[in-house]
Amino acid sequence: MSTFSVFKRACSLGQSKLVGLSPGSSRKLHLLSSIPRLAASSLEDSSHQAHTDAIATALRGPGVAIVDLKFPDASSEYLRRLVLNLGNYHNHGPPITHSATRGWFWDVRPKKTAGPQARSESSLNFPWHTDCSYESDPPQFFALHVLHADRRGGGTLSALNVSRALKKLKPATFETLSRPEFRIKVPPEFAKGVDNITGCLVGKGEEGSGVRIRYRADIIEPLSSGASDALAEVHELLASSRDTDARDVQVDLSPQVLPDNAIVLMDNGRWLHARNEVRDPERHLRRVRWGRRKFEAGD
Ligand SMILES: [Fe+2]
Repeated sequence: MSTFSVFKRACSLGQSKLVGLSPGSSRKLHLLSSIPRLAASSLEDSSHQAHTDAIATALRGPGVAIVDLKFPDASSEYLRRLVLNLGNYHNHGPPITHSATRGWFWDVRPKKTAGPQARSESSLNFPWHTDCSYESDPPQFFALHVLHADRRGGGTLSALNVSRALKKLKPATFETLSRPEFRIKVPPEFAKGVDNITGCLVGKGEEGSGVRIRYRADIIEPLSSGASDALAEVHELLASSRDTDARDVQVDLSPQVLPDNAIVLMDNGRWLHARNEVRDPERHLRRVRWGRRKFEAGD
């Protein structure tokens, strides 16, 4: 049985309850199988305690979850209500406004007009990163609602498990990453009067959730030779994450895994994410972020 058919079979079991997969023989399957998946049969599920509890538990545990909506929801009303309920009943904090004009939801699709462009609005690949890594209190969570998956073999979202990846680093590297020896530049399209921040790249996670990371290679500048060496080791590790023997740390959420009307929710400090080149001009995801947390070094 293929990886996907095992996954699909398990997905079909879900009705507002978490679906786990049998442990597979390959390491890649094992990571995919660790992602809880559930179904929302109606808009009202966004307010049902058992349903929101299951999602909160998944985000506290593995730090990632997928929800399959079994009803049309072009305005992402399910996701809007869900995020508000996670804030109200699970201490997640409120959703974050993207800008004065764009509100909580941000439509991620290739931009057809000229002018300043966020990387997510281009068709380019977007290497491993955490969202808002240039902010002193980045959002702890984000979700993406797939409105139109890429039909042309591009636009695949990938996720990389931070705690598994960090175990592959030298202990001294880990320590250096925990020190405030890195300057992180604010991309011009997100400038709000601050050009950069200085801090560590590995910080303290929520209670019981280990460490969190902030990372986006093109905007980080090491401030010491030790920081430079540590950053180079991280770059190298991430560059090799797609090697066959590194499949225990990353998973591809292709359109087969994340089809139209699926939602992926992710802990933005415990998973890195990436996207390959978008090939379908109609690809359209809708993003929301929530739960600002100060990024602090561990003890
Ligand atoms: Fe992102």
